[in-house]
Amino acid sequence: MASSGIIVFIFTVLCICAVKSGFVKVECKAENVGQYGQQSLLECVVKTGQFVTDPTIRMVAWKKLNSPEDEGGLVLGFHRGKLDRPKRGYMFAEPTWDEKNMNVSLLITNTAVADDGDYKCMVITDSGDGSTVTTLKVQAKYSVPTVYSIPEKIVPNSESTLICESRGGYPQGTIRWFVEEKHDWTGSSKMEAKQSDDGLFQLTSRLSLSRGSTFSKYTCAVFNASGGKENEKTFEMPPPPPSSLGGIVYDTPHMIVVRPAGTILLLTVLFSNFSQSGIRENLNLNQPDPS
Ligand SMILES: *[C@@H]1O[C@H](CO)[C@@H](O)[C@H](O)[C@H]1NC(C)=O
Ligand SMILES: *[C@@H]1O[C@H](CO)[C@@H](O)[C@H](O)[C@H]1NC(C)=O
Ligand SMILES: *[C@@H]1O[C@H](CO)[C@@H](O)[C@H](O)[C@H]1NC(C)=O
Repeated sequence: MASSGIIVFIFTVLCICAVKSGFVKVECKAENVGQYGQQSLLECVVKTGQFVTDPTIRMVAWKKLNSPEDEGGLVLGFHRGKLDRPKRGYMFAEPTWDEKNMNVSLLITNTAVADDGDYKCMVITDSGDGSTVTTLKVQAKYSVPTVYSIPEKIVPNSESTLICESRGGYPQGTIRWFVEEKHDWTGSSKMEAKQSDDGLFQLTSRLSLSRGSTFSKYTCAVFNASGGKENEKTFEMPPPPPSSLGGIVYDTPHMIVVRPAGTILLLTVLFSNFSQSGIRENLNLNQPDPS
């Protein structure tokens, strides 16, 4: 008999708890996106059952979870009618929030990479309590890449490297290379991603140009974590300096063979308006043999 009494008692307690918490729900937008350095909103509202009139909030706790099992660190709290140890830069999104306002959204004033992750919003009202986990995805846009070569002056017919850098992005993105604006040349490159103290990524990609590389344009494009192109920069191969013309074979705009002693001849070619056949004749007829 005593045991059935206990069972009835437990059952009653369970029912009361279920009804009590069943009247209150914290409804949040499942995923919120925030831009680095700007304001982020984690939207949550408290919903009460239809029989609850004029509910009052007794406690709110916004916690940042570092892992799913984690208790979390308090970033904004309301308890016994006043704010409880709010972290700097975290506040209720409603400017004049009070215990009668069911919009308990959290505003992060200056979003940092460290703000990325899960948050738990716990609310206790005079008609029950509820809690929900919501996520903030922080994004930062990558800068327009800078592209430079090593060596700085590309010596035709010797090895060189193009280096592309883009910084200040989050989450980690990728750099891809294109030649002549369309052919994907990423396979010849190697990318490195470094995270700075503020959590933002710096991407560096090195593209090796083999001897006799003939493309005139190399484009470096930076893509964000979801594959959207953010920025790009095109590197135009410099025309070879006249002083290093010895023994070089050009393929643009037309094939002209020049030997060291032919430098003056080439300048003549560049600055006058010979027909193609005229150039050939000049080269063949007038070129002295250096050997
Ligand atoms: C909650 O308050 C914020 C800030 O005022 C507002 O942007 C948001 O739309 C509100 N949400 C709801 C559901 O009222
Ligand atoms: C990536 O870029 C696309 C297009 O610009 C944008 O819609 C998307 O939100 C960006 N994603 C991230 C993670 O930055
Ligand atoms: C250059 O030569 C072509 C023919 O070979 C001629 O049509 C053209 O007008 C010339 N240009 C100049 C600037 O003299």
